[in-house]
Amino acid sequence: MKTAKKEFAQRRKSLMAMMEPDSIAIIPSGCEKTRSRDTDFPFRQDNDFYYLSGFDEPEAVIALIPGRKHGEVVFFCREKDKEKEIWDGYRAGPEGACDDYAADDAFPISDIDDILPGLIEGRVRVYYAMGKDSEFDGRVMAWINTIRAKVRSGAIPPGEFLDLDHFLHDMRLFKSDTELRIMAKAAAISAAAHCRAMRVCKPGVYEYQLEAEISHACAMDGGRHAAYNTIVGGGDNACILHYVENSAKLKKGDLVLIDAGCEYQHYASDITRTFPVSGHFNKEQKAIYQIVLDAQEAALTFVKPGNHWNEPHDASVKVIIEGLLALGLLDGDVESVIEDKSYKAFYMHRIGHWLGMDVHDVGDYKVGGEWRVLESGMVMTVEPGIYISPSNKSVDKKWRGIGVRIEDDVAVSDDGYTLLSGDAPKTISEIEALMAS
Ligand code: GLY
Ligand code: MN
Ligand code: MN
Repeated sequence: MKTAKKEFAQRRKSLMAMMEPDSIAIIPSGCEKTRSRDTDFPFRQDNDFYYLSGFDEPEAVIALIPGRKHGEVVFFCREKDKEKEIWDGYRAGPEGACDDYAADDAFPISDIDDILPGLIEGRVRVYYAMGKDSEFDGRVMAWINTIRAKVRSGAIPPGEFLDLDHFLHDMRLFKSDTELRIMAKAAAISAAAHCRAMRVCKPGVYEYQLEAEISHACAMDGGRHAAYNTIVGGGDNACILHYVENSAKLKKGDLVLIDAGCEYQHYASDITRTFPVSGHFNKEQKAIYQIVLDAQEAALTFVKPGNHWNEPHDASVKVIIEGLLALGLLDGDVESVIEDKSYKAFYMHRIGHWLGMDVHDVGDYKVGGEWRVLESGMVMTVEPGIYISPSNKSVDKKWRGIGVRIEDDVAVSDDGYTLLSGDAPKTISEIEALMAS
């Protein structure tokens, strides 16, 4: 299921076709980050870099130079080094960059300051991710200054600097068939992990133990790293949107909210399920849960090509308001509640976000000041929620501390959407049946 070498090459070609004439694009890899003293965080490649290269090493830079006679795709990467490879693992080296990653030309990264200014010289425009990494900004300027220092000998420095993100992130927003297959796999792994957590959950289990079940299930299936920090919030903790302490003991009668998704082959999944610790929803929990589920269903009917980004959100707001009005948790009518925004005490986030290599993926939500129109190949989450703060004195005590979110990953298809995370049950009866089994 791996992305083929030719797909990476095709992406570079598409990007170069969008670039202005006489330009160069410079894309740096991710770098290793210290966790503490001698230990590093696991290396994670920069997504823009990986999207264009499939190259998973730090200390690398790609230059894309459309029309360059001696090759348009130039890699700079670490040289092969027998001793270092014994300690830290395989390096492709410049030869491997050409043979295995289809670079036209490749050089040791240690030579970049000598070689790259010569490749930039004579180009009118430079594309790079301006302002993303101040150290890299400084290096680009140093390369430009090397050329500027030689103007009296006839060197011509570039005069325009353009942001690469705009083109590149629009490409990343539309997923290819291979990307969709990888994302479906990521979601399937995570959905199975949510099922595992439901099966083992019972009063007395700690939140971190459910986190461990999720991590175990994902890692055993190839999703070794979480796409974001796992949230396991029991009881009141479900009302803290980004709760990641995961340290409390789960109590009988409470709900637990799990927001967890693995990364698989550089693509994220992002799933939330909320279920009763002891396997049965009580009356109030059922009422709130059903509103959230209905809101999600309503939102999903608006996920189709031609609708705009905000339509699923608006649909979820309407259903949540209607439900909370019917329960007496809000006053007024749908219009007045939308107007006075009182629903935001219970539903304070939006319906979702783009999903891809990043969990909150790249891509504009508005184009020309208008909400973006959904198109086939976009992938997004649909994740309404209701959170009744334990300190909300304006509602009866029986409602306080109920937090519910239901989150799925969906790909916009030609005539609607494909649900990627459907293997994790979400109706009340499905959840109770799984937990009883
Ligand atoms: N797990 C992050 C989010 O749902 O956006
Ligand atoms: Mn999400
Ligand atoms: Mn989530």
